[in-house]
Amino acid sequence: MTLDELKDAAVSMLDRAHCPYSHFPVGAALECADGSVYTGCNIENASYPVGLCAERTAMAKAVSCGQRDFVRLVIAGRSGEFCVPCGMCRQFLAEFAPELSIICLNGSGEAETFRLSELLPHSFGGSQLDGVKP
Ligand code: THU
Repeated sequence: MTLDELKDAAVSMLDRAHCPYSHFPVGAALECADGSVYTGCNIENASYPVGLCAERTAMAKAVSCGQRDFVRLVIAGRSGEFCVPCGMCRQFLAEFAPELSIICLNGSGEAETFRLSELLPHSFGGSQLDGVKP
């Protein structure tokens, strides 16, 4: 899939967002090393903290289908700002892809690209648990 196609996949998920509380739709498209793509949208809940972000939805779909290697993630919003991943999503994504390339879109379709390690420096990872494993 080309980058433009991956962007289109993320943008098309904006219409699937369930965001009756924030009215802030987010779409995501995650490309795996084998070329497959998993999409996601944000899914809010009347109990606000229960809501899921679009990029975690996409990665949860991919991981639960057996995917472990990820190449690129596009996150699309409709606001004037580039839709960067929230802190919780940065940590979630880093579990599998600390060097993931993240393409953030604003509502005009303009893009800014980040490396996850740039957005989440000095991240907490599984190796930090090594010293306390039985
Ligand atoms: N949201 C995402 O889906 N991804 C992000 O990285 C930023 C925030 C969602 C969560 C919530 O449904 C809405 O945007 C407003 O915060």
